[in-house]
Amino acid sequence: MNNRFFVICSGVGTAFGATICYKEFLQGCRYSGRENLDGKTAIITGANTGIGKETAKEFVKRGARVILACRDMERCKKARREIYLAAKAAQPFGNVNHYAKKKPQILCELLDLASHESVRAFGATMQAEKRIDYLINNAATMRDPQRKLTKDGLEKQMGVNHFGHFLLTGLLLGKLQASSPSRIVVLSSTAHYRGDLNFANLNWDEDYDPGAAYNASKLANVLFTRQLSTRLASTSVTVNAVHPGLVYTELFRNMSFAKSMTSYITAPIMWFFMKSARAGAQTTLYVALSPDLEGVSGKYFSNCQEAAPSDRALDEEMARRLWAVSEKWTGWSMDQVPPLSALSASAAKS
Ligand SMILES: NC(=O)c1ccc[n+]([C@@H]2O[C@H](COP(=O)([O-])OP(=O)(O)OC[C@H]3O[C@@H](n4cnc5c(N)ncnc54)[C@H](OP(=O)(O)O)[C@@H]3O)[C@@H](O)[C@H]2O)c1
Repeated sequence: MNNRFFVICSGVGTAFGATICYKEFLQGCRYSGRENLDGKTAIITGANTGIGKETAKEFVKRGARVILACRDMERCKKARREIYLAAKAAQPFGNVNHYAKKKPQILCELLDLASHESVRAFGATMQAEKRIDYLINNAATMRDPQRKLTKDGLEKQMGVNHFGHFLLTGLLLGKLQASSPSRIVVLSSTAHYRGDLNFANLNWDEDYDPGAAYNASKLANVLFTRQLSTRLASTSVTVNAVHPGLVYTELFRNMSFAKSMTSYITAPIMWFFMKSARAGAQTTLYVALSPDLEGVSGKYFSNCQEAAPSDRALDEEMARRLWAVSEKWTGWSMDQVPPLSALSASAAKS
């Protein structure tokens, strides 16, 4: 009897231990840098949940002024409270102890990437910021079952994930340049390997496929990153794309298995096989903060290391065409970036 009890206990213990080890292994890399970001400003889109919220916590812990750029102010304020408490619990962190000097600076600002008017209003508000050191293009929408349009008539996944961020980045480039060295991080995905751009049907007017539209938007993220890095080659603003891993977040909210009764079965399975949002933020943090990546631009990262993007993502002609369409559809082009002399004059006045 005693023997059997012992065998059962050790079997259960081993299975439990193996589960914990496997789950820990799935979490991937962990960014251990403890930079002091006092005096730095970071903008994170879609920071009210998921990977964006966890990224924001780490920037705040390191002392940065963090702007949570969200479309829902109620959700944003709730997240701000959580981020504030997380930062408070984490003090002191590395060589940063901003509680001794000041309260963490966490701001909620309205940004709906599905509206160029909203993106432009956000861009205008951000001109009052003294500096912008980090722009994290994190927000995304995935797999709207029916084709939906942004306020400007663009298919929503391409509209939010690519065109909205294209316009936003453009409007903030002047500030990023004036604050350089500065970094832009674009959240893409391994979904980009399955993505393709059909320029004759870029807005999915025909044959809308939710998965293909998401994949195309994530390919657009890498093409945009590479093309922007070429255009910023003479500056100290870098831009890189990341895949955060397979992460348990609300991104899957539009998929049927996440809504129906089956979610009671699928949710624990997903939780088991996926990274936590905190683990999902690690590659973003590495690319945004690591001193090892000073001057590195136009690359694609996964699990805190450089990875090879798809052949299509390396297609220069496709990148140039996408850039031209993006300029046309958003009304923003590189020649609208104010010259540095104008920016330093206005900074001196403020
Ligand atoms: N989770 C994964 O497994 C995974 C894998 C590969 C890549 N990624 C990428 O990682 C990034 C973060 O995803 P996540 O997993 O953290 O997803 P998430 O939890 O769904 O968060 C997405 C964020 O984007 C915001 N957003 C959506 N539409 C917006 C709009 N029109 N304007 C402004 N914000 C908007 C959401 O705001 P609301 O809460 O108001 O909707 C939310 O804050 C995305 O770019 C995603 O493509 C994720």
